[in-house]
Amino acid sequence: MAGQSRIVASVVVLALVVGAAASFAASWRPSIAAIAPPRPDTFDPAIVKQGRDLAAIGNCNSCHTVRGGGNYAGGLPVPTPFGTVFSSNITPDGETGIGRWSEEAFVRAMRSGVDRDGRHLYPTFPYDHFTNVSEADDRALYAFLMTREPVHASPPKNELSFPFNYRPLIAGWKLLYLRSADVRSDATKSAEWDRGAYLVEGLAHCGSCHTPRNALGAERANAQFAGGEVDNWHAYALNDASHAPVRWDVDALYAYLRHGWHSDHGTARGPMAEVVSNLASVADSDVRAIAVYMADISAAPERARPADTVVAQSSQGDAPQAHTAGAAIYVAACASCHESKRPLPYGGVNLALSTAIASPDPRNLVNIVLSGVGAVEGERSPIMPGFAASIDDAQMVALLNYLRARFGKPPAWTDLEQTVRDARATQTVSLAAPPDPRDSPDSNQRGKP
Ligand code: HEC
Ligand code: HEC
Ligand code: HEC
Repeated sequence: MAGQSRIVASVVVLALVVGAAASFAASWRPSIAAIAPPRPDTFDPAIVKQGRDLAAIGNCNSCHTVRGGGNYAGGLPVPTPFGTVFSSNITPDGETGIGRWSEEAFVRAMRSGVDRDGRHLYPTFPYDHFTNVSEADDRALYAFLMTREPVHASPPKNELSFPFNYRPLIAGWKLLYLRSADVRSDATKSAEWDRGAYLVEGLAHCGSCHTPRNALGAERANAQFAGGEVDNWHAYALNDASHAPVRWDVDALYAYLRHGWHSDHGTARGPMAEVVSNLASVADSDVRAIAVYMADISAAPERARPADTVVAQSSQGDAPQAHTAGAAIYVAACASCHESKRPLPYGGVNLALSTAIASPDPRNLVNIVLSGVGAVEGERSPIMPGFAASIDDAQMVALLNYLRARFGKPPAWTDLEQTVRDARATQTVSLAAPPDPRDSPDSNQRGKP
């Protein structure tokens, strides 16, 4: 018997060795030769400018720049269910950045998530979308990055547990989930729609936040734009599962993406505010193309309801007895702005129009009430004070239950105490006491709440 178990054991070992060798062979990528960092003046300024706009659409700065660090010098901790991955230095520094990367090495990284040395990169770097970017656009991005200020800085080591810290495993992930060139191009649609599809599915990687992920962290193929997660925010569903009380159309999407605000939908906040602020420098035609494509994806026309119907329905006085405490807080702290029809920047939308309250996930609403809504740089955008310091957890839960009953729809939210505690723990905005809104004139004045 002992002999037999030894045979079994050696078969198992052999299988493991063969398997490991096979996966190593399948995962191996060659290193691409280092080059001397190219001189910035060897790049055509027009291509560099094009690369700047593309980098804005791709949010490269959002992940590759940390507050207080150099532009594109990396080091941002990106949380994943498997641990934390830190973004790389993508400045042209020869030692710590990508200064010694040829254009070919850069294009390979964008296309197939492999670094110059041939190591697999984590899909936290959204190359599952960037793989759809054209080679010409990759070249412009390369020209833009290689003409930035080189910064000497190495990111902290990733904090991933075994087996997720073993990069060759990423090859298996790619076999399952990395599909290039699957951007829809539809002969029955306009050129604008095609351009929108190219941007949204590729460089703009909208789905990386708005699509739910499976257990291996890949976007679920049959649930595109059904709503996802990012930094304790819910990235709302944008497909026909959208909870927006008024249907998104091209003009509303365009206004929201261009200016961060639309009167039937309110403002973009949290990670979406960053997306919008990056889009501020992008050509109007590209923002419109994104809106055209997304409107086509969003809810079916039969769900369309004009804003005034939505608002009228909610103000039929549905304020049940059970919610008197929440109602009192709403009247004292919120109604003066949200029911006053005051102009920007201090007038808020009627809350019956808010996706945050209609959504089955209460986190965004909690984030908004705790931190308020800040002004978008350079825009005459809305401002709401944060209430973190003036509303305690019990009051907050009462307020949330009231808002959901009055402006949202069943079912009521559950576990709100925990949601509020989590939101306070992750809140990054300063907790300074909010100003009394009555001190602020209803003017175009901009500033920090
Ligand atoms: C959602 C966050 C995120 C966004 C957006 C993002 N990156 Fe990254 N990127 C990362 C992370 C994290 C890594 C490190 C991955 C790893 O270590 O495996 C990375 C790695 C890279 C690398 C490999 C560098 C190296 O030294 O190995 C390149 C090149 C790169 N990114 C370029 C870009 C460009 C260009 C854009 C914009 C078009 C961009 N990234 C947008 C998170 C992001
Ligand atoms: C970094 C993550 C992230 C990316 C990338 C991103 N979004 Fe968002 N988006 C969010 C979050 C989070 C919200 C909710 C913000 C809030 O509550 O204000 C949101 C909200 C929205 C909304 C409002 C939906 C509603 O019903 O109120 C629209 C529309 C939208 N995003 C479109 C887009 C488009 C189009 C793109 C690509 C160009 C995109 N988003 C890329 C995270 C993201
Ligand atoms: C000083 C005026 C002011 C006060 C007070 C105020 N808000 Fe706001 N609120 C705004 C403005 C302005 C916005 C941004 C425009 C918008 O999205 O409606 C906003 C946005 C919101 C949104 C997001 C709506 C959406 O989905 O776009 C919610 C939810 C909200 N406020 C709830 C509240 C609650 C609850 C209170 C009371 C605790 C409150 N607000 C107090 C001005 C105010």
